[in-house]
Amino acid sequence: MATADADVDAEVPRAASSPVEPPLPPLDEIVAALTEYRWLARTYVIEYHVERLAERLPPAWQAALAATPLPEVTRRLLSGDDEGLAAWPDSLRAYAVACRRLALDRRPRGFHGAPPCELDRALLSGLSDKKRHEIERLVPVVAHVVRAARATLVVDIGSGVGHLARTLAYLVGVDVVGIEGNPAYVAGAVERDAKCAALLAGRARAGDAAAAALLARRRATRHLAHFVRTDTDGAAFEALVRRALDLRPGAPTPPLVIVGLHTCGDLGPTLLRLFAEQPFVRGVVSVACCYMHMTEDSDDEFVAPPPAGRLGYPLSRAVADRLPDAHLGWKLREMACHALDAYEARARVAPA
Ligand SMILES: C[S@@+](CC[C@H](N)C(=O)[O-])C[C@H]1O[C@@H](n2cnc3c(N)ncnc32)[C@H](O)[C@@H]1O
Repeated sequence: MATADADVDAEVPRAASSPVEPPLPPLDEIVAALTEYRWLARTYVIEYHVERLAERLPPAWQAALAATPLPEVTRRLLSGDDEGLAAWPDSLRAYAVACRRLALDRRPRGFHGAPPCELDRALLSGLSDKKRHEIERLVPVVAHVVRAARATLVVDIGSGVGHLARTLAYLVGVDVVGIEGNPAYVAGAVERDAKCAALLAGRARAGDAAAAALLARRRATRHLAHFVRTDTDGAAFEALVRRALDLRPGAPTPPLVIVGLHTCGDLGPTLLRLFAEQPFVRGVVSVACCYMHMTEDSDDEFVAPPPAGRLGYPLSRAVADRLPDAHLGWKLREMACHALDAYEARARVAPA
């Protein structure tokens, strides 16, 4: 997430032990590792047997890995302690060190000490446990960014049936526009907004103070059916927002924060680009996913020719210049979606 304004609102709760984001690994080291281990990174886990992937490893690695219990292999590749690494050949040890050094820290942490919010049952309707978990953690983050950016509008792009947009309108105190490419989802979002408001109104009439407080705090939610293409520029995006808000000519476009929960493929990069290019986009909160659906100018067998518009990857010139001929490719981007923790857990219970 990012804000265009570094001046963070003093109201935002910050625990004394507010966690500090660890610095990202240097790009040059990532490029060097991607180049050196490309042959390994481009293998695809479900082809393990048919492609006999284990046999493609250097013979010294095969012998060392065969002699190491699976949970221990994972521990050596992922954990910070060096115990046991000495038993591996130099080249495998160097690979393990690169993995540890360049992997992002996936330990869960709070955001500036803000606890997850608790959703009223009217906002829980239709939410899976997973979506609830995500929204309860994302809302305080968006609230923080909105305040830090002094924004008065949130635009949720790829808003689906509007769970996040609806929750933000009730809990963050800003107007919300949801932009969604699938018109059926937009209709679903409008319907669910109405149902939620009716539920709360009924409870408020029956004397439920929490429901009345939510209704009193609620801001407007508008939904627009529109597919945001990778070549949507700032002017087109601004026109879209103005249309959703029904702003008259001459009325200023409100300073806004873009959010996206599960911004599949190219949508994530598009959100970041709109933030980087447009001054009225004061902040961005994007939880990206499905990296394999990003367009890349690649000769990879799985990648269709890029459509008209801009590429999803690489997004930055710094990366494009350093990796001129090194496409990531479908397999590597797909692997980036897998949860390392899930593999680690499976390795822990694997038979010796
Ligand atoms: C994985 S769903 C997430 C929906 C919602 N944000 C949530 O978390 O429940 C992604 C949504 O983004 C929409 N979408 C994907 N690309 C889009 C685009 N370029 N413009 C508008 N909507 C898009 C899809 O139709 C889908 O509803």
